[in-house]
Parts: sequence; structure tokens; C-alpha cells
Amino acid sequence: MKIDFLSEAKNIEEWVVSIRREIHKYPETMYEEFKTSQLIREKLDELNVEYEHPIAETGVLAQIGTGEEPCVALRADMDALPIQEENDLDFKSTIDGKMHACGHDCHVAMLLGAVKIFKKHEEKIKGTIKFLFQPAEEGGAGGLKMREEGALDNPKVSKVFGLHVWPTLPTGSIGSRSGTFLASAGFFEVEIRGKGGHAAMPHFSIDPITTTSQIISSLQSIISRETDPLEPAVLSVTYVNGGDAHNVIPESIRFGGTIRSLTMDGQMRVQKRLKEVVEGVSISNGCSARVLFPGKVYPPTVNDPDCWKDIKSYSKNIFGKNIVEMDPVMGGEDFAYYTEVCPGCFIALGIGNEEKGTTVSVHNPNFKADEDALHLGVALHVMMATEALNEF
Ligand code: NI
Repeated sequence: MKIDFLSEAKNIEEWVVSIRREIHKYPETMYEEFKTSQLIREKLDELNVEYEHPIAETGVLAQIGTGEEPCVALRADMDALPIQEENDLDFKSTIDGKMHACGHDCHVAMLLGAVKIFKKHEEKIKGTIKFLFQPAEEGGAGGLKMREEGALDNPKVSKVFGLHVWPTLPTGSIGSRSGTFLASAGFFEVEIRGKGGHAAMPHFSIDPITTTSQIISSLQSIISRETDPLEPAVLSVTYVNGGDAHNVIPESIRFGGTIRSLTMDGQMRVQKRLKEVVEGVSISNGCSARVLFPGKVYPPTVNDPDCWKDIKSYSKNIFGKNIVEMDPVMGGEDFAYYTEVCPGCFIALGIGNEEKGTTVSVHNPNFKADEDALHLGVALHVMMATEALNEF
């Protein structure tokens, strides 16, 4: 199958951008992507493309081709973040406190672009292409749910690819690496319980605030003193809540944060030590502690070396020399649930342009995407699936 990836993607650029803007206006967070899911299904109906819904609650699994193996999959995540958008755009978020600040609106639009191109060439596809529109990437493990509900089966997916917009790479470039690309990500929640009382008579209380401050200081040495300096790991305390009066020692304090490691072993070791340190310091201060690790721990995202090598060689037609060999990143991605069971590759798509202000980090209220990158992402999607099928 031969497709002129770039010019076909360029031809539908406006269509892709308009879908992206439509989704951007109505951001929906994990497992509540009802409108987004509906919009995807409407577009698939217009294109006369078969799909399965519901899958993983709000997910949509579209399919083009023979329905037989070989089968490759392309994935886009659909969810937004609980962030108030600060950009002044015509199509800015209309929902208070929610924003597509991680570019998943772009991901959905680019994947629909790929659907549109493949549908045109359906006769020529020797095998099947699955399009995974998944919910809840941001902490809800939507990828795992898609997998558990059979997204990679019948026909069995033998390669899986995903894109993520990347503000630190310039528009017109891509980056990734062989092997572990993104970290395992887990969360923790701690409650420290002391004994509340009058702040003027601290000796009648057990102060959870001083205990918490000691704990947070002690946690720092898990990474700085106990972890091999050549083994990347992160432990960040990201919130501390408790107390609300000048003259009252509170009964309890809650804090929490995230642990990152490039291996599951590393993740589990830091979890274990965090629990031990929290409980040890609490006991020495007469407090009690409750430590929870809520939700799923995302595994590291590991790229298949051959997949990345192949992408580097054929995507020169689109990106020329602007293909970057990246270092691992401590961000997490639930694309990892696909690459756990199937070879694949996760690619960073450059959207950075200083003049347009699109170099602001994801998860920031001022995050913006350079829409000139979207047709490149569409072309890359089409190219990755085509080339992977051509190998069989
Ligand atoms: Ni994201």
C-alpha cells in the first residue's frame, strides 16, 4: 500500500484543526469524556467507519481493513485536566476548572485524521488497523481498561503506536528512544494523626504539624542517600493540608504526592521506604500514620528497539534530520499498558514555537499547541501503521 502521507494529511489539515478546537472548548476529565466520545462517534459515522462502544466506559474502538491479522493499533487519549485555562483563545475552554492542558484534544483530532485517510484507502489495506480512543490517561489507567476489555484482541494487535504533543521539541520534529522512555508513576496519600489542643499549651497536645515537617524532611534522603545516583527516581510531596486557626494545634494533617522510577522494582522500593519512614518518624513523635497508595501504579513505557529504529528511518520523509534521540523522561503514560503486552513505540511530536508561545509545559494553565504540527502527526500515524503492516 502506497500513500502520499504528507500531502494527504495536509489536505485535511483544516478538518483536523476544527475537530481539535471543538474538543478544546469542551474538556472532560477521566471517565467523563461523554461529549468527546460522542463527537468521535459522529465523525466515524460520517466517515462510515465501524467501531465498538462502549469500551472502557467512554472509549471508542474503531477498525478499518479486512478484520483479519496482521493488525496494528494507533492510540489517542481523550481526557482533560482539572486546570483553569488562562489562555485567551477563540476556542478556549468553556468549562470552569477544566482544560485540555496535556494536548489530548490534539491527539484525538490527529487520530481521526488518520482514520479519514485510511478509510479512503481501505481497499488496499492488507490487514487491519485499530484506532484506540481511550479515556482516563491522567491517573485513571484507561489504557489498562481498554486492554482488559479486549482492545488488543480479535484480531490480535501485533504493534501499537502512540503520539504525544511535546512543547520542548520544535514543530517539525519528533523524538523518542529505544527501550524505557517514560517512567513508572505512582501516588501516595498520608494521614498523620496526633492530638489537637490549645496552641499556647503544646505539651497537652501531640503536634501532627511538627511531625509532618520532620517526615517530609526525612523523605528527601530516600532519593538522595539511599538510591543509586545512576538510577533515576523522584519522590515529590505535592500537597500538605491541615489546620485552620492561629491558636489551635490540629488533630491531623494530610499530605501526598508522587513517586517516579524507570523500573517497577525502583517504584516498589521507594514505596516501601516511604511507608517505613512515615511510620517510623510518626511513632517517634507519638503520632499515628496511615499510608495509602491509591489507584494503579503505571508501569514504565518501554519502546520496542526495532519499532523506533524503523520509525527513524522511514519518517525522514516527513521530518528530515529533525528526529531526536531523547533521554528518558520521568513523566508517566498509561500507553505503558499496551507496550507491556505488545511491541510498540511512543513518540514525542514537536509543537514548540517560541513566537506562538507554544513552548509552555503541559499541565500548565497557559499550555498551547502549535496547530501547524497536527497534520505532521496525522501523516506520522498513517506512516507508522502503513509501514508496520507492509512488514508482514
Ligand atoms: Ni498527556
